[in-house]
Amino acid sequence: MTTKKLWGGRFTGTTDEFVESFTASVHFDSRLGEVDARCSQAHAKTLLDAEILTRTEYDSIIDGLAKIITDIQSGDFPWDSSLEDVHMNIEAKLIESIGEPGRKLHTARSRNDQVASAFKLFLMESCDDLCAALVKLQESLLDKAAAHTHTIMPGFTHLQNAQPITFGHHLMAWFEMFDRDLTRLSDWRHRTNVSPMGSAALAGTSYPIDRSVFQTTMNFESVTRNSLDTVSDRDYVIEFVAVLSTIMMHLSRCAEEVILWISPAFGFITLPDELCTGSSIMPQKKNPDVAELIRGKSGRVMGHLNGLLMLMKGQPLAYNRDNQEDKEAAFDAFDTTFQCVSAMTLLVSGMSPNPMRMLELASQGHPTATDMADWLVRREIAFRSAHEICGKAVALADQRQIELHELSLSELKDLCEVFDETVFACLTLEGSVAARNHVGGTAPEAVAAAIKSGRTRLENQSYSDPT
Ligand code: ARG
Repeated sequence: MTTKKLWGGRFTGTTDEFVESFTASVHFDSRLGEVDARCSQAHAKTLLDAEILTRTEYDSIIDGLAKIITDIQSGDFPWDSSLEDVHMNIEAKLIESIGEPGRKLHTARSRNDQVASAFKLFLMESCDDLCAALVKLQESLLDKAAAHTHTIMPGFTHLQNAQPITFGHHLMAWFEMFDRDLTRLSDWRHRTNVSPMGSAALAGTSYPIDRSVFQTTMNFESVTRNSLDTVSDRDYVIEFVAVLSTIMMHLSRCAEEVILWISPAFGFITLPDELCTGSSIMPQKKNPDVAELIRGKSGRVMGHLNGLLMLMKGQPLAYNRDNQEDKEAAFDAFDTTFQCVSAMTLLVSGMSPNPMRMLELASQGHPTATDMADWLVRREIAFRSAHEICGKAVALADQRQIELHELSLSELKDLCEVFDETVFACLTLEGSVAARNHVGGTAPEAVAAAIKSGRTRLENQSYSDPT
């Protein structure tokens, strides 16, 4: 049974039932209900100031909307798909409950500037929640890194043992990725924080309204500069999901490392039972499914980004109904990313490294060959020549199936007579790590400084709503 449409004046026939359900969006955009009702209260203020509403009409609209907000919050609001979308549902309910003044609310606005305003505000609030979750992840990384500034592990390039690093340094690399993501969210928020209301359907409004009333009431930083662009712009959705995709790409890389590290072939970390799952057939299995799902879910968020770009690329100005398709993609991208950030926080705080195993693997494959070359360079040998001499030392050690530091001094002297006893000190893993003591380096001292600066940045920066 279809309800009388608020836009039904020029229609004599009723909407086809299939068309009604095909065009309806209230089953997903009701999620904007609360913010949309708050926007309507702010719009009523615009109308009051422009003397389009009397004080009595205004008060009645504000009260009616307040009751609607309470019903939405308690889950009692009777969403009706024959009323199409969240905006029509709220307006129809307001008219039903307060009568004639409710019929004046849609003066000087359109659903086109209305949906852009509500969606921007909703996404900015979501952004603040995500920033708070990311800050928790960052804190868990700082805590874990602080406990492991001296824990040596192999550092890889090409997934081949490259040079020794500290576990704290590795975790701080993750910290830096998410630090950039926090700044991306904050940049996005600033660019998005511009008020659409007053653009109306596409051309602006003929009523003498002051756009800054809505803007300041809803805490937007400024108002948009072109009405056509305002109602057709979905850059803020695409860009938000692009940042979410970048966060998911980072989470997926971290998850991939957790999966590798927990596999017995690496054996670098263990995870508590609470964070793992078993196999229905193999009784011995303890699997890192949480990390695997983070990696898997990244594809889903990146898919939404592609979907949104495709959604927008062929649309002529200004608003088209295609835009309604942006909501589910953005909601799901946000929900997924938010969940995955929380899941990664659990993994980081739950993981226990196995320093003996890390050390064992870190010692294999001549990881201090670069240190040997650097030692020669300090004795006036050109780096390229030093590289070649040490390459020969590596080949000799491989041939004898020993590590570099196990070669004798006379074997080294045969390769280059500059070698003396002091070279052996720089061939230890601890010596190699400690030598890289500069901003960004892996030495325990440098990592401790990075943790301190990371903590200060987290404490001093406000990544979310400045108001
Ligand atoms: N529900 C729509 C959306 O999400 C807004 C409706 C605008 N509809 C229209 N026919 N102008 O985009």
